[in-house]
Amino acid sequence: MLTENHIALVKSTVPLLEESGTAITDHFYKRLFSHNPEAQNIFNMSNQASGKQSFALFSAIAAYAKNLDNVEQLLTMVERIAQKHTSLNIQPEHYDLVGHHLIETFRELVPEQFTQEVEEAWTVAYQTLASIFIGREGDLYKQREALVGGWKGGRKFSLVEKRIESELVKSLVFEPVDGGPVIDYLPGQYIGIEVQPKQSEFKEIRQYSLSDKANGESYRISVKREVLGKPGIVSNYLHDGLRLGDEVTLYAPAGDFYLQDNSKPKVLISAGVGLTPMQAMLETLIAEQGAEQGNEQRNEQKSEIHFLHACESVAQHSFKKRHDEITEQGKVTSHTWYKSGTHESALQGYMDISGIADQLPLAAADFYLCGPVGFMQFAKQQLITLGVESDSIHYEVFGPHESF
Ligand SMILES: Cc1cc2nc3c(=O)[nH]c(=O)nc-3n(C[C@H](O)[C@H](O)[C@H](O)COP(=O)(O)OP(=O)(O)OC[C@H]3O[C@@H](n4cnc5c(N)ncnc54)[C@H](O)[C@@H]3O)c2cc1C
Ligand code: HEM
Repeated sequence: MLTENHIALVKSTVPLLEESGTAITDHFYKRLFSHNPEAQNIFNMSNQASGKQSFALFSAIAAYAKNLDNVEQLLTMVERIAQKHTSLNIQPEHYDLVGHHLIETFRELVPEQFTQEVEEAWTVAYQTLASIFIGREGDLYKQREALVGGWKGGRKFSLVEKRIESELVKSLVFEPVDGGPVIDYLPGQYIGIEVQPKQSEFKEIRQYSLSDKANGESYRISVKREVLGKPGIVSNYLHDGLRLGDEVTLYAPAGDFYLQDNSKPKVLISAGVGLTPMQAMLETLIAEQGAEQGNEQRNEQKSEIHFLHACESVAQHSFKKRHDEITEQGKVTSHTWYKSGTHESALQGYMDISGIADQLPLAAADFYLCGPVGFMQFAKQQLITLGVESDSIHYEVFGPHESF
């Protein structure tokens, strides 16, 4: 059992972790991948190379040990990570592997500070956390298997449709090879997709938000081709390499960012390819509006949808035709910003929420954000300045999570 003394000992080594910069984490991952190369089938090696993921695991463990007396805070974080882990099909035995390399890393790198007492504290702290994750992930796996169209582990799907949505984004629709139904997901959730492009020595798993309302038969994702710097492995493969009829492995829909089922007005705010979860939310809300029509109990407030989107230019505006259509039909109130070029249906420059704030139900609505982290920080700050409660702001990060 984790004691106060264990927590204090783990906490006392946090400065050591922080001072070491990436030395400890680099050593940990080098160790993990050299002793257990098969772990490269699970970890995103590009995130490793760019350093995005390097500190996440260690700092999360230390943060959790510190917060074990603040269970509520802990549960939100555990939920987000457990959801991500399930999209990667992480299993209990992986925790033993990570735990082993974690302890060995400390032993090898900081033998003097890593006394027997400290080792015991870290071992217990790690096992406590691991069992929380294993428990929650086990529940999620079971729930998903039991749902209509549910499954366990990876399931083979084939590509049945590929469509260009804009200069950089293509949508891909997948149906299960076994011909069965698929789980309905909550709008905003993502799937894990596993592929092995020719040039990759290992399997590659990435998450993609589902970009349409659930239909019980297929899944649609919309993928931006990553072209800046080193070309993205999976996005370019999905754009160019994967052909109609080709198979991929999918892990069941997951994620803690989804449309809250309440009567509040919704304000969906996205930039660039961050509009994919918004697209699922829009299509779901519009379908609900249709279902409500003719119903005398119709709740006007429930139908109020505001869609704010920013992108580089009209050429990069994915789903533009659909956005124009639903805006003209009065189903959604839309505001669009293009960074470059002028266009009759868009404002020019960066998104400025304060400029249209008088048209938004600031006090009453739920706000959903998705886009680059800098964009979301700016949008959230604008909303807070306008008086929006931070509890009403929900967001998704397309990578290892960052809080702001
Ligand atoms: C919850 C969630 C939902 C998502 N939804 C979507 C979505 O709907 N649509 C979408 O398009 N994407 C989405 N993503 C992002 C997606 O999962 C991938 O991260 C993205 O497609 C890039 O993958 P890739 O394999 O093409 O790039 P990777 O190969 O993973 O590379 C990613 C970046 O790292 C850089 N990089 C690679 N190697 C190195 C190196 N050695 N040094 C420095 N930098 C390097 C690359 O240049 C690239 O910019 C989502 C992510 C998450 C977590
Ligand atoms: C107690 C143990 C663990 C902790 C505290 C932990 C923590 C984290 C955190 C904080 C993230 C980032 C989540 C996000 O995207 O928001 C993450 C992602 C991830 N974790 Fe874990 N993790 C643990 C165990 C494991 C295990 C056992 C494995 C598998 C061997 C694993 C594999 C991964 C992978 C592959 C990712 C995604 C990384 C990426 O996209 O680059 N984790 N984990």
